[in-house]
Amino acid sequence: MTKPKVFVTRIIPDKGLDMVREFCDVDLWTEELPPSREELLRRVQGVDGILSLLTDYIDGEVMDTAGEQLKVISNHAVGFDNIDIHAATARKIPVGNTPDVLTDATADFAFTLMMSAGRRILEADRYVREGKWKTWSPMLLLGTEMRGSTLGLVGFGRIGKAMARRAVGFDMRVIYYDPGESKPDPDIKASRVDFESILEESDFISLHTPLTPDTRHLIDSEALSKMKPTAVLVNTSRGPVVDLDALYDALKEKRIFAAGLDVTEPEPLPTDHPLLTLDNVVVMPHIASASKVARDKMSWMAAKNLISGLKGDHLPNCVNPQVYK
Ligand code: GLV
Repeated sequence: MTKPKVFVTRIIPDKGLDMVREFCDVDLWTEELPPSREELLRRVQGVDGILSLLTDYIDGEVMDTAGEQLKVISNHAVGFDNIDIHAATARKIPVGNTPDVLTDATADFAFTLMMSAGRRILEADRYVREGKWKTWSPMLLLGTEMRGSTLGLVGFGRIGKAMARRAVGFDMRVIYYDPGESKPDPDIKASRVDFESILEESDFISLHTPLTPDTRHLIDSEALSKMKPTAVLVNTSRGPVVDLDALYDALKEKRIFAAGLDVTEPEPLPTDHPLLTLDNVVVMPHIASASKVARDKMSWMAAKNLISGLKGDHLPNCVNPQVYK
């Protein structure tokens, strides 16, 4: 029996890749960097499925170039702003993503960033390495305390809720803003508020919203101007949710205390970006979900979605279930 043809746009953990290899005829992109647009368009021709990463922009042109036999697009990420869902739905192509399995890894990392930025961990490490540490000092590298502080969550989906659960252990008050229909969870002590209140009342603000036209530059100069001068902003969602020029100004002028960014606009952030001259920001290379366990499970789930789509079954995690109507 001939196996379905798929293009896998990068090496993913064996847990998922082995499954894909067993079921499919795989064209695997083995380079460190993503395929160029040209290469992507060339490699998708005639495939039945695409296993993509968040660095691959999959729009109607890619789908049409693949051809009418294209049955499924499986994104190896929970976010799917790199895929034109409207175009996929119009062509009745189900799109899969990898929710749940990375919730804890991502929330752990957002907490790490809150504490790293709030307690100036990287700045302090540089201080030691640069030979500046002369003695114990009462005023050295003072930061922000968690206990009794207010955590403001923007987005109260799976990861937002996991943040709220962690915050309980730190004796924080939790408030959240969610424009969607996210249901309150009776087991989580958190109050729903409006966006203004998040900005004005939070000591830590952590972003857990998808990137949509509404959330692009949600954190702009106006939003930053409403935050406390002691506030710590953390972004593990998508880079464009924060206007980095506005953030640079706010951090430089000490209008907020610090920021922890796992995502930036653009990615990678150029090494000569002005933000990287500041001590009160921690910048990470988009690794919030990068625990070994989470990445193994993401690859497994991406493989499951891909193979289900190829078999004509419903995807276990489908972001456009309208295709089944
Ligand atoms: C990572 O950013 C993801 O969306 O999975």
